[in-house]
Amino acid sequence: MTLKDEVRRFWDQAPCGTREIQSEEGTKEYFQALERNRDAREPFIADFARFGEHGGKRVLEVGFGAGTDFIRFARAGAVLSGIDLTEHGARLVRQRLALEGLKADIQVGDAEKLPFAEAAFDSVYSWGVIHHTEDTVRAAREIARVVRPGGRVCVMIYHRHSLVALQCWILHALLRGRPWRSLSEVICRHIESVGTKAYSIGEARELFSSLSSVTVTPVLTPYDLRISRSLYLPRWVGRFVPDRLGWFLIVEGVK
Ligand SMILES: C[S@@+](CC[C@H](N)C(=O)[O-])C[C@H]1O[C@@H](n2cnc3c(N)ncnc32)[C@H](O)[C@@H]1O
Repeated sequence: MTLKDEVRRFWDQAPCGTREIQSEEGTKEYFQALERNRDAREPFIADFARFGEHGGKRVLEVGFGAGTDFIRFARAGAVLSGIDLTEHGARLVRQRLALEGLKADIQVGDAEKLPFAEAAFDSVYSWGVIHHTEDTVRAAREIARVVRPGGRVCVMIYHRHSLVALQCWILHALLRGRPWRSLSEVICRHIESVGTKAYSIGEARELFSSLSSVTVTPVLTPYDLRISRSLYLPRWVGRFVPDRLGWFLIVEGVK
């Protein structure tokens, strides 16, 4: 089995955020629970995604997962396309669109080989995806290719110099008597699908250096303040921790 097959299998078993949902899959209650969880854990997404500014714009989401951001672009009236490696994600997103009477172009495919023409989109969005693919440089290049000159890119990738990465290292290197294991190695083996990568701020900027302007913003997440699988420190603790130690790096760029 190739690395790509393993990544596909991992996300096909349970698209992002769906493991903890109790309601029957594909129902209105199921999707509402997904939205509630996302708003509770990642309320800052809307500030970066700017869903409301995309009405009438040609938007591509790379790696839509269970579609919680995707549906928000659709509700905002974007002329929307999406691609994900898994059939399961695509099925959920089709059900989700049908429940709300919305339309979009949904494809199962690979971020490393986007089946779209150069400059086909006004905006390309990808949240927590390209660090899971084997050739992240190629996926970043593809994203830059399909956005039009003057168009916007917004991509979230994981941050190596973060509290999540440190926790992972303490758990899987230090406490196992293997302190020589690197942050990259433990992230690759123990965070979500096998092969996950995490970047420094400089490396994130470099990935999108072909764009005419790029900013990279680190964001502290509840995952940085998690002390066990389901136990989070209270949100106020975050006020004392700088964002530069956060697990998410948001890359915003203009081509
Ligand atoms: C952490 S989930 C994020 C999903 C969604 N963006 C979200 O924020 O909920 C990662 C997603 O990336 C997709 N993915 C991984 N590698 C991919 C690739 N090479 N091409 C397209 N999608 C990919 C997976 O199928 C999965 O849906």
